Amino acid sequence: MNFIFSFLIIAILNTLGLGVDVTCPTTAITQNTPTGAFPAGGSSIFPANYNCTIQFQIPVGQVVRINITNNFFFDTNDTLTIQDSASTLYSLFVIDKLFYLPATTGKIMISTQTNTSSFYFKWQYIPVTNFNRVLNPTGTVLALNLTAGSYYRFTSTRGQVAFHTGSLSGYSDSALSQIYVYDGADLNANYIGNLKVFTDMENVSIGRSLTLVNFYGSSVPSYGIANDYAAISNYDDYDFFVLRSDMDFFRHLISKQGVESAMTLYAISSPETYISTIKFLNPNVTGQEVRVKPATPTENYGDLLTYNVRDFTDDQLPQQILTKTFTVTLSQCDVYIGARSRPSIDWHQANPGRSGWIYSPSMWNPTAVITDPYYTYFNSTNPVKFVFDIQSVKIGKPGEALKVEVGSLTSSSVSVVFNSTATNTGEKAAHGTFMKTNFTGTSNLSSFAMKFSIEVCRISGKIFILEFFRMRWRLQQNL
Ligand SMILES: *[C@@H]1O[C@H](CO)[C@@H](O)[C@H](O)[C@H]1NC(C)=O
Ligand SMILES: *[C@@H]1O[C@H](CO)[C@@H](O)[C@H](O)[C@H]1NC(C)=O
Ligand SMILES: *[C@@H]1O[C@H](CO)[C@@H](O)[C@H](O)[C@H]1NC(C)=O
Ligand SMILES: *[C@@H]1O[C@H](CO)[C@@H](O)[C@H](O)[C@H]1NC(C)=O
Ligand SMILES: *[C@@H]1O[C@H](CO)[C@@H](O)[C@H](O)[C@H]1NC(C)=O
Ligand SMILES: *[C@@H]1O[C@H](CO)[C@@H](O)[C@H](O)[C@H]1NC(C)=O
Ligand SMILES: *[C@@H]1O[C@H](CO)[C@@H](O)[C@H](O)[C@H]1NC(C)=O
Ligand SMILES: *[C@@H]1O[C@H](CO)[C@@H](O)[C@H](O)[C@H]1NC(C)=O
Ligand SMILES: *[C@@H]1O[C@H](CO)[C@@H](O)[C@H](O)[C@H]1NC(C)=O
Ligand SMILES: *[C@@H]1O[C@H](CO)[C@@H](O)[C@H](O)[C@H]1NC(C)=O
Ligand SMILES: *[C@@H]1O[C@H](CO)[C@@H](O)[C@H](O)[C@H]1NC(C)=O
Repeated sequence: MNFIFSFLIIAILNTLGLGVDVTCPTTAITQNTPTGAFPAGGSSIFPANYNCTIQFQIPVGQVVRINITNNFFFDTNDTLTIQDSASTLYSLFVIDKLFYLPATTGKIMISTQTNTSSFYFKWQYIPVTNFNRVLNPTGTVLALNLTAGSYYRFTSTRGQVAFHTGSLSGYSDSALSQIYVYDGADLNANYIGNLKVFTDMENVSIGRSLTLVNFYGSSVPSYGIANDYAAISNYDDYDFFVLRSDMDFFRHLISKQGVESAMTLYAISSPETYISTIKFLNPNVTGQEVRVKPATPTENYGDLLTYNVRDFTDDQLPQQILTKTFTVTLSQCDVYIGARSRPSIDWHQANPGRSGWIYSPSMWNPTAVITDPYYTYFNSTNPVKFVFDIQSVKIGKPGEALKVEVGSLTSSSVSVVFNSTATNTGEKAAHGTFMKTNFTGTSNLSSFAMKFSIEVCRISGKIFILEFFRMRWRLQQNL
C-alpha cells in the first residue's frame, strides 16, 4: 500500500515536471547554442521565491525566437518578463507565446512567490539579413500589416526620418509593439525599440534611413507615415490620423500662441473627404488659422484652403477634398475640426450663403500622372445666384475642357467652356437651380481652381437670367 502510494506521488511529480532541474544559468546564452530550451528537461513547476535572469547575446543580423509556454493567470505574482535590447520590458501572461529578441542583448526574467507556476521556453537563433527589402521614400503612407520576411526602409533626402502611426480604431494600437525599428538602412542597423515605444517617445532616426520589420507576421491594424524630420520639426505638435468612411473624424486641436502644429489625414477607402466642422473656441482671438494642403509635410505643397478666424463662417463648409492624403496646419488655434470621408449630400446643396472652392483632382494629387475626369454639381429647389471665379485652368492635352453650366429644369442653360489654359478669368454669375462643373482633363498637366459662392436670387424670369449672364460673360471676354 505504502509502496503504491509513493509510486503514485513520484508519477504525479514527474508529470508536473517537478523532477526537472530549474537551476538558473550563470552565463549568457550565445549563438554557440543556436537552439535550446529552459528548463532543458521540459516544462516544470517552479519553486516558490525563485528569481532568475537568463541572458542572451545576439549577433547583429540575427534575432532569437523564443517560444514560451506557461500556466499562470493574471492574478498571480509569479512573472515571466522579457527585456529587449532597447530596455523595453514585456510581461507575458498568455500561454504559448512567441517573442522575437532583436540584437544585441535580451533577458528573460522569471520570478515566483508561489510554487504553483510552470514555465518553459525554447529558443532559436535566426539570421534575418536575407529578408526582402522594400524601399520607400519619406512622404510615404502605408498599411502596417507588413509582410513577414520583408523589411521596410524609409529614406530621406534631407536628413533624419520621423515616423508616426494612426490606428484604424482611433485608439492606441498595442499590436504596434510587434513592429521593430532599426536606426539605419537594414536589419544590421541598431535596434532602437518597438514601434509603439518609438512613436510614443517621438523618436527619430539618427541618419537618413529608418527600417521597420514585423518578425511575427502579425496583423497590425494601423497605418504609418514617414516624414523628413526637417519637414515637421518646426511644428509644436504633429499627428497622423486615419479617416474611415464609416466613422466621422472629430478632434479638439490646440496650437499655442506663436507656433503651428499640423496633422496629416489619410483616408483609407474614399478618394473624397469633406471638412464638415471648423469651430474656433475663442472666436475673438485674432490670428487663428486652419490651412489645408495636399499630401504630407515632406512634399511641402502650397495650401489650397485657408480658414482665418477673421472671416470664417460655417457657410464655407462642407468643403470637398479630393485626395486620400492631406495635411492640416493650425496656426495658434483652439479649434474643433471635423471631417467625413465619403460622398456628401450637403456639398451639393445650393443654399444661399454658401461658398468654397472647387479644385480638380490633379490639384489635390500633384504627383498622380493621371486622375479621373471630374464632375460635380450644386442644386436647389428655388433659383439662386451662382457666382464663380475660375482663378486658373490648365489644359494639358488638346480636347480637354472645363465646362461650367448654370440653368434650371424649366429653362435652357448657359455655360462657359475653357479648352485652353487661362488664369484670372474673372468673376462670373448666373441664376438657376443648378450649377454643373465638368472637367475632362486627366493628366497632371491639366488642372483648375475655382472659387464659388451661392447668393440669394434677386431677379426672376429666365430671360433675365440668361441675359444677365451673357452680358457679364461677353464683358469679361472683351476685356
Ligand atoms: C531578482 O533578482 C534581481 C537581481 O538580483 C533583483 O534585482 C530583483 O529585484 C529580484 N526580483 C525579485 C522579484 O525578487
Ligand atoms: C511552440 O512550442 C509549442 C510546445 O512546445 C509547440 O506546440 C508550438 O508549435 C510551438 N510554436 C511555434 C510557432 O513554434
Ligand atoms: C501579490 O503580492 C501582493 C503584495 O506582496 C499581495 O498583497 C497579493 O496578495 C499577492 N497576490 C497573489 C495572487 O498572490
Ligand atoms: C508548495 O507550497 C505549499 C505552501 O506554500 C506547501 O505546503 C507545499 O508542500 C509546497 N509543495 C511543494 C511541492 O513544494
Ligand atoms: C494590408 O492591408 C491592405 C488594406 O487592407 C491590403 O490592401 C494589403 O494587401 C495588405 N497587405 C498585406 C501584406 O497583408
Ligand atoms: C527616444 O526619445 C527619448 C525621449 O526624448 C530619449 O530619452 C531616448 O534616448 C530616445 N531614444 C533613442 C533610441 O533615440
Ligand atoms: C467676442 O466679441 C464680441 C464683440 O466684441 C462680444 O460680444 C462677445 O461677447 C465676445 N465673445 C467672447 C467669447 O469673448
Ligand atoms: C507629371 O507626370 C510626369 C510623368 O510621371 C512627371 O514627369 C512630371 O513631373 C509630372 N508633372 C508634375 C507637374 O507633377
Ligand atoms: C439635386 O440633384 C440630385 C441628383 O440629381 C437630386 O437627387 C436632388 O433631389 C436635387 N435636389 C434638388 C433640391 O433639386
Ligand atoms: C476650343 O474651342 C474653340 C471654339 O469651340 C475651337 O474653335 C477650338 O478649336 C478649340 N480648341 C481646342 C484646342 O480644342
Ligand atoms: C462631361 O463632359 C464630357 C465631354 O463633354 C461628357 O462626355 C461627360 O458625359 C460629361 N460628364 C458628366 C457627368 O456630365
